Amino acid sequence: MAIIFLDSVTSTNTYCGRNIDNLKHADIVRARRQSEGRGRKQRIWSSEEGGLYFSLVLKEGLGGIKTLGLLTQIMALAVCKTARRQGVEAYIKWPNDVLAQGRKFCGILSEAIFDGEKLKAVIIGTGVNVSQDKINSEKPSITLRSLGVKKDAEKLLEDIIANFTADFSLLNRAGFEPLRALYKEYFLYLGKPVTMRVFDEELHGIAEDIDEAGRLVLNEGGKRRLIEIGDMDF
Ligand code: BTN
Repeated sequence: MAIIFLDSVTSTNTYCGRNIDNLKHADIVRARRQSEGRGRKQRIWSSEEGGLYFSLVLKEGLGGIKTLGLLTQIMALAVCKTARRQGVEAYIKWPNDVLAQGRKFCGILSEAIFDGEKLKAVIIGTGVNVSQDKINSEKPSITLRSLGVKKDAEKLLEDIIANFTADFSLLNRAGFEPLRALYKEYFLYLGKPVTMRVFDEELHGIAEDIDEAGRLVLNEGGKRRLIEIGDMDF
């Protein structure tokens, strides 16, 4: 595993995609700032100096992973655990955001790279608001520094990667089930009414459960729907 630290880059995910053949399993590309940081749904990810922006490359242990979403969930869990260890009451907004005080401080963008039909690598891009002075985001945002966290981005990255590595290996050995209880404990909307966007559909219901495969169980007036990919409004 190597950490490649760039002063400035368009996007660490784009960089990894372009250089995927030269990167090894568990390599990390981190940048001090990004000029074209990308979020989900073609959104811009504000990437001023002071934040933690990195992409983790996975090339091994992907055979048993059924969805990209699961890897995103494991990364969200790793960031949530890291923040909690620093005394922050952090929560996960399924599947890919981590919040505190109702405001977002971490987003994750996972991308798959194929060689024909074969999955070649997965890039897990993670942005954490650490100590930026300004964040351009349409969503309410917050930094870890403003929540009292003193650790710098480098140390936070070490913790996040240690958490992710342990849970990725558990996921490979035993699936999502052993991680489910903690994930549910940190899932902010469990048992609450939510609005979901699944492809072009808008769904309303109660976020009843996270099942043994990491899917969100939405109860729409008595009808249960298992959601693998989607976004939750907040
Ligand atoms: C989201 O919340 O929509 C996902 C945001 C993901 C941002 C990270 S920052 C590092 C990596 N490089 C990018 O361009 N995006 C991800």
